Amino acid sequence: MQSELSVIVLAAGKGTRMKSQLPKVLQPLAGRPLLAHSLASVAALKPSKTVVVVGHGVEQVTKALAGSTVTFALQSPQNGTGHAAAVGLAPITDDGITLLVTGDTPLIRSETLAALVALVNERTFALLTCNMKDATGYGRIVRNAAGDVLKIVEHKDALAANDATTLAVNEINSGIMAAPTAWLRGALAQLTPHNAQGELYLTDVIAMASVDGLTVATAQPANESEIAGVNDKAQLAALEREVQRGEAEKLLQSGVTLADPARIDVRGTLICGIDVFIDVGCVFSGVVTLCDNVSIGPNCVLKDATIGHNTTVHAMSHLEGCTVGEGALIGPFARLRLGAQLGDEVHIGNFVEVKNSTLARGAKANHLAYLGDATVGERVNYGAGSITANYDGANKHRTVIEDDVHVGSNCVLIAPVTIGTGGTVGGGSTITKDAPAGALSVARGKQVSIPNWKRPAKKTS
Ligand code: UD1
Ligand code: MG
Repeated sequence: MQSELSVIVLAAGKGTRMKSQLPKVLQPLAGRPLLAHSLASVAALKPSKTVVVVGHGVEQVTKALAGSTVTFALQSPQNGTGHAAAVGLAPITDDGITLLVTGDTPLIRSETLAALVALVNERTFALLTCNMKDATGYGRIVRNAAGDVLKIVEHKDALAANDATTLAVNEINSGIMAAPTAWLRGALAQLTPHNAQGELYLTDVIAMASVDGLTVATAQPANESEIAGVNDKAQLAALEREVQRGEAEKLLQSGVTLADPARIDVRGTLICGIDVFIDVGCVFSGVVTLCDNVSIGPNCVLKDATIGHNTTVHAMSHLEGCTVGEGALIGPFARLRLGAQLGDEVHIGNFVEVKNSTLARGAKANHLAYLGDATVGERVNYGAGSITANYDGANKHRTVIEDDVHVGSNCVLIAPVTIGTGGTVGGGSTITKDAPAGALSVARGKQVSIPNWKRPAKKTS
């Protein structure tokens, strides 16, 4: 049936079983809302219209999808999946096919959806089913002796009716189906809420199709997780592991060494060169690029970061919105914040924080320091406990530390200030004025020693 494809994504439900303020379809899976996953698969089919049925948490859901090309349809109150489908159908015209996708089946692949849609014609309804090891909670597919689909019975209704035969069926309804639009509209108009949940069930249209003499064709996904519905935090966690196993597998296939494929989390895009090593417990989000021979120590968190060839990031480092050059050493316990741009062979040691600063080749800040809004030259050595005082309470100011400067320990560089090329700042200095190139600048109280000093003695009463 060569005709227009429209898609309805059901996303209005509260997701009561999540026990959360966040609407179910916005619960994050691998760093993106559940709904974003299904919408990405749907978009690959290039439908002429995609309607997202929203209701519970409508403001949050529409905000999360701001900028996308979908049409929203408001379902209020949320009176079941059948009601939601009817609401979603309102802005869709009668010619063509409508594909219905639930917003809580994030791992559905576009190939599976395309195969399902291809089954539909004027007299054929297509339903995606799956034989589940554990069918608990899902609607069961009831077939006659000839194998034709007769109806779907919801788990709760089978329980309420004490229907052991239906409960024993392990072929389940994925919630994903496709139908000729005109027929679907008529069927949805006839739904009634005579069931355990007092709602309009989308699943009841299957029985109508069979009564109307439509063929109910079924297709199955390549694997079970594609149609796994996420209704509670346990299912969400199980699916997260599934996604992460897939991410780890892809990394291993591409030659990345993972200390343990079960202990890595990719919540965005991780691009790796050759001979990259990633230790346990690392979390990657946004877009992270690790060039050849990069080594990431245990428990590092990287977001939107690019790490150059042969650089090592030691344990417990937190890097966000930064670039690091080649052959650099970062951490352990380093923090690189937004706008940290580190050149080749830069060393950043433990408890050093760098924000919105450029460090040129070979600059080192090895212990307990802060560089904010600073321009740091080549080979600069920045001592332990030193900080740039970049904020006057209202505005940020820059510190310029030129090539080959040595800043001693525990210095405060009060910005705006420049330390000239080759200058040395004595430990414990508070620098408020520009320090000339090549000079030793010291700005601290002079040491006084009082000989034979008697400490006060305790009073005896
Ligand atoms: C549904 C199916 C069940 C199937 C399962 C697959 C029905 C009656 N049951 O059950 O046969 O095995 O999915 O995962 O269809 N929604 C709305 N408006 C509403 C109610 C729900 O938009 O009024 C949306 C939800 O946001 C969700 C989807 O529809 O994305 C499915 O709803 P949910 O409550 O999760 O249905 P299940 O009980 O999982
Ligand atoms: Mg569900």
